[in-house]
Amino acid sequence: MTREEALEMVFSHVTEESLRNHMLATEAVMRALAVRLEEDPDEWGLAGLLHDLDYHETLDNFPRHGYVTSEILQERGLSQGLLDAIVAHAGHIERRTLLDRALYAADPVTGLVVAAALIRPEKKLEPVKLKSLRKRFKEKQFARGADRDQIRSCEELGIPLDDFLELSLEAMKGIADQIGL
Ligand SMILES: [Fe+2]
Repeated sequence: MTREEALEMVFSHVTEESLRNHMLATEAVMRALAVRLEEDPDEWGLAGLLHDLDYHETLDNFPRHGYVTSEILQERGLSQGLLDAIVAHAGHIERRTLLDRALYAADPVTGLVVAAALIRPEKKLEPVKLKSLRKRFKEKQFARGADRDQIRSCEELGIPLDDFLELSLEAMKGIADQIGL
């Protein structure tokens, strides 16, 4: 599956702009992680871009979140490892591979980074610094939906938290105009 095909699927399944932006942000973080870990940025990027494809369809049925995406994507030439990572990001099956772990950690960090931009008067990513992101990470009440333990699971990839926050921030700055930040 090409990136263009994946993007078309995102636009046909996901109507909410903020969720599409979240998927684009997750793609950017996943690509950066793949580069850092010398994995395949195209495959990891697709996992990030597609991971919440069934969000609307499974909103009232969380146990199906991830599985429905995996079913939608069957026969589309994606690897089983990629489909498993999408199921695993919802916590339904054990995370076994680097790709599983990367997607699990990348998902919530995007929410933290977006919130750190939106709290600024100009609501832009560019002025957000690692230092303020680290501070926000420690504030439990800030962006509470961004699960801190899940973000910290980046350490299972051998990436220290600070490095992960910086990598995610820079990756998302690279696509800031595409996600309205
Ligand atoms: Fe997500």
